[in-house]
Amino acid sequence: MGTHYDIIIAGGGAAGLYAAIFAGRRGRRVLVIDHAEKVGKKILISGGGRCNFTNLDARPDRYLSANPHFCISALKRHTQHDFIALVDRHAIKWHEKKLGQLFCDESARDIVAMLLAECADAGVDIRTACRIADVASNTPGFTLDTSHGAFTSDSFILATGGPSIPKMGASDFAFRLARAWGLPVVEPRPALVPLTFAPPDLKKLDGLSGVPLEATVACGGGRFREALLITHRGLSGPSILQISSYWREGRPVVIDLSPDLALADHLKGLKRSRPKAELKTVLGDLLPRRFAERLFEVGLLGTAPLTSRPLADLKDADLAGVAAALHGWTVHPDGTEGYRTAEVTLGGIDTGALSSKTMEAKNIPGLFVIGEAVDVTGWLGGYNFQWAWSSGHAAGMAA
Ligand code: FDA
Repeated sequence: MGTHYDIIIAGGGAAGLYAAIFAGRRGRRVLVIDHAEKVGKKILISGGGRCNFTNLDARPDRYLSANPHFCISALKRHTQHDFIALVDRHAIKWHEKKLGQLFCDESARDIVAMLLAECADAGVDIRTACRIADVASNTPGFTLDTSHGAFTSDSFILATGGPSIPKMGASDFAFRLARAWGLPVVEPRPALVPLTFAPPDLKKLDGLSGVPLEATVACGGGRFREALLITHRGLSGPSILQISSYWREGRPVVIDLSPDLALADHLKGLKRSRPKAELKTVLGDLLPRRFAERLFEVGLLGTAPLTSRPLADLKDADLAGVAAALHGWTVHPDGTEGYRTAEVTLGGIDTGALSSKTMEAKNIPGLFVIGEAVDVTGWLGGYNFQWAWSSGHAAGMAA
């Protein structure tokens, strides 16, 4: 029968295409269905168009989940090195940008082309612009009612990702289907997303939008030493995107604006070597000038505005106070920019309902869930694609 497949995969993103490759290589008849007009759209826009496709340090402690152990098995059985080997086989040139993050030298299109070539090689059928109206679990098997007609399959792999960036075709399809089929869902929320400030806090940053700062940012047990960027809505930049996965409503975020230099000792040293130097000048050498100047105009650091005087006129205790305020700038975000700009979705289908070896649902034989739809969320830096590859491989080898 033309419309029957061994496996139907909903979602032709990173995880779905990768699962299709391994299932197809095993001789399984595979159909990938995507409602978008082309597959892999998030891959194409990822990493600024160069796709940060994995991380050399991809390991379980870089992932957030209600069950932090769940990701171990899949990550171990198909590692970043396995993916790099595939990239190398396709002669795609890559480089490490920083912190183990691997990017294509040329374009993210190379990764999508590689996945499509592997799918073609494995005999995978792909249908794009195909809307899924309904999926029925028949025990055994599945029936899909789609805009391209009805399809049946023995196994069904749910790989439709999470709702981040709806304009890219992202949807909450996986969560709706899971709930309808009785699979628990850990409350989803936008992650790897800029944080926003309430108007009074925003006013203090007025005119500073675009100013970059080097910082260590801490919140809710997370701590990241990376760049930070002031925006017209609050804060962004890699350190803020990272900490957004740990932030919850009401939690303060503590920012060390001098992450590599013990400021109290430094300022005391300068007081001896440059006693006539003004505090404003000295801070202007350590921080972006516009930001340093603002510290003397408003109580940005939760203190009164600083007063600029020659260092010699300041007591050591005053300098220590300035240092402490800069090492511990505490901000109170009032929200995030939401799914509109979030790179990923935190939460998702509860890992308790799935096998960590195969990604198969414990209570619905033949149903597999992979990628971002699962409650496994990586740090920024190639970790989320590695989860898509590893979980896709696990399901592709088992379904
Ligand atoms: P993904 O979202 O890739 O794929 C889901 C697919 O399902 C899509 O093709 C979608 O069209 C389809 N779909 C959705 N609903 C459907 C429905 N109802 N019916 C049929 N099809 C449906 N990660 C990383 O590691 N390195 C990076 O550089 C980046 N960069 C990055 C930039 C930006 C702007 C974003 C938004 C995200 C990233 N990410 C990232 C995160 C990464 O893109 C993400 O974790 C993976 O794409 C998740 O892969 P999935 O296959 O699970 O979902």
